[in-house]
Amino acid sequence: MADDALVIFTPSGKRGRVAKGTAVLQAARSLGVDLDSVCGGRGICSKCQVAPGYGDFSKHGVHVAQDALSDVNAVEARYDRVRGLKPGRRLGCQACIEGDVVIDVPAESQVHKQVIRKSATERVMVMDPATRPYLVEVTQPDMHEPSGDFQRLAQALEREWGITGLGADLAVLRQLQPALRKGNWQVTAAVHDAGQGAELTGLWPGLREAPLYGLAIDLGSTTIAGHLVALDDGRVLVSSGVMNPQIRFGEDLMSRVSYVMMNPGGEVEMTRVVQDAMGTLATTLAEDAGIDPHDIMEATVVCNPVMHHLLLGIDPVELGQAPFALATSDSLNLHARDVGLTTIAPAGRCYILPLIAGHVGADAAAVALSEAPEAREELSLIVDVGTNAEIILGNSKRVLACSSPTGPAFEGAQISSGQRAAPGAIEKIRIDPLTKEPRFCIIGNDHWSDTPEFGTPQITGICGSGIIEAVAEMRMSGICDASGLIGSAAQIGSPRSQPAGRTHEYVIHDARPDGPLITVTQGDIRAIQLAKSALYAGARLLMDEMGVDAVDRVVLAGAFGAHISAKHAMVLGMIPDVPLDQVTSAGNAAGTGAQMALCSCKARRQIEAQVHKIHKIETAIEPKFQEHFVAANALPHATDPFTQLRAIAPLPDVSFNTNGSGDGRRRRKRG
Ligand code: FES
Repeated sequence: MADDALVIFTPSGKRGRVAKGTAVLQAARSLGVDLDSVCGGRGICSKCQVAPGYGDFSKHGVHVAQDALSDVNAVEARYDRVRGLKPGRRLGCQACIEGDVVIDVPAESQVHKQVIRKSATERVMVMDPATRPYLVEVTQPDMHEPSGDFQRLAQALEREWGITGLGADLAVLRQLQPALRKGNWQVTAAVHDAGQGAELTGLWPGLREAPLYGLAIDLGSTTIAGHLVALDDGRVLVSSGVMNPQIRFGEDLMSRVSYVMMNPGGEVEMTRVVQDAMGTLATTLAEDAGIDPHDIMEATVVCNPVMHHLLLGIDPVELGQAPFALATSDSLNLHARDVGLTTIAPAGRCYILPLIAGHVGADAAAVALSEAPEAREELSLIVDVGTNAEIILGNSKRVLACSSPTGPAFEGAQISSGQRAAPGAIEKIRIDPLTKEPRFCIIGNDHWSDTPEFGTPQITGICGSGIIEAVAEMRMSGICDASGLIGSAAQIGSPRSQPAGRTHEYVIHDARPDGPLITVTQGDIRAIQLAKSALYAGARLLMDEMGVDAVDRVVLAGAFGAHISAKHAMVLGMIPDVPLDQVTSAGNAAGTGAQMALCSCKARRQIEAQVHKIHKIETAIEPKFQEHFVAANALPHATDPFTQLRAIAPLPDVSFNTNGSGDGRRRRKRG
């Protein structure tokens, strides 16, 4: 009888012969099979669970006998008794191969688990985090061979896990001796290695059973969003957001830069408040998830260039003027405390994604990482709308990026009845083209306002997606013309248009005297026109550079992109004309990119390489920007034909005069 046996691992299909008596974990390692282990084969972490198969496997040409694996030993029996193993599962570090066998490695036992990102473009991501836990047995101190506890820990990590050149953060050295003694010389060590050397960043007595955690932060000008992620399988435990407290120094980025210009040293205060807010967010997320914030070992941050500099305590004043020089554009691998993130693990790390250019930040890089336009043949236009719009245009041949100052109108700010997305805000609206009567939905109520189920809720204002729909509906129902002018009551044939100074406003909801009057004013339409012109002009600049007049698909990223109606965005001319089914929402793509960088060192390398290949356009100094901006002022556009849109949406050819007198006239063809 042969003293070796055939072992076949699924789903990898890796196979080979090993000496009988070899532990499954050892066989997996020798064949390069991805089988996890935190305890190093001590039978206590259960990460190495496998599911052996018995019987005939004609596909593999093998018969697996019932005794192909060794009997359950005492360690495994104890684990099963205390913790319980799922039926049919064995501990790979304890079960030994005694005959030909087919062994399945379930997804949760793979080190580099594949996780499917839930987004419009579902993609598989491989878990490859920079920080991983290792259980080790450290040799006890010996007076005759004096050496430091850390040195013996480093030797144990090298001996048991092959980790070489370990360094240690002082914050962990402080915890080292009590942890070793409490764990009776057995400790779980968190080792961070992002390709720049291994560093001990956390330590727990004995086996740490809970996973390590990470924090993906999308640091926006208006809000700071955080996702608490388990670093073993990439699942998001909880997400939350806080307002960026820098808002009090200026709503948009340039006003914050001017604040620094006018108030030397102002950046110090802005750095402090944003760092504090990030720390509070980390604590809140940990509380919500019921974990110790000190178990958060790493954070990744994506942000625009001004936020980047302000977070790092770098004066952003150079970003306020050409040539928009960044202090540094490469990714940064820092200690979390360097960015004031002191509420997570004391030796925790912080990775900041690379910036693309002086106006195109790590948030755009994160969107590029998440959406990967370079992986497609079709030409994708990816738009991340916030206070600034990040725009990426590209395909497998070339990727371009720019940023355009859209201002906060799309978020409902600087709109007379505008408000941020919150319960009570109108988020959807339809206007009857004949009667000009509106009906709408508010956040927190699934029913339309013209149905009995709507009830009598508090209606508080219009949010960003609501104002976009409102202006687009006004255009489609002939309440405003292509130039954006609102017609008078006589011109539109409805008392819903009311005079407001020298212009008119459209009344959506009038609950006076007890409730609000919600209208769309001429000023609101102008604010939306300015914002959408900036967005469209940015996209056109990229299309010029690419030498195209059309794109194949449009991806709307950002929380806002998830709520916006593609048709209404196109009626406004926010985005170029494409078939409606080619407009998709990518959700919070910047946040997803931050999560990817948190879960995968490979993803970090990928975006670090990709940013160097992305061609940047500075909208602020491109002479054609102004030309595109002016042409984009009309609804949907002064010169671009928007033929796909015209086939599906009515765009009445009305024209109103500024004093609002007389009837709305059909526009006469010039010529
Ligand atoms: Fe930890 Fe098997 S490797 S239980």
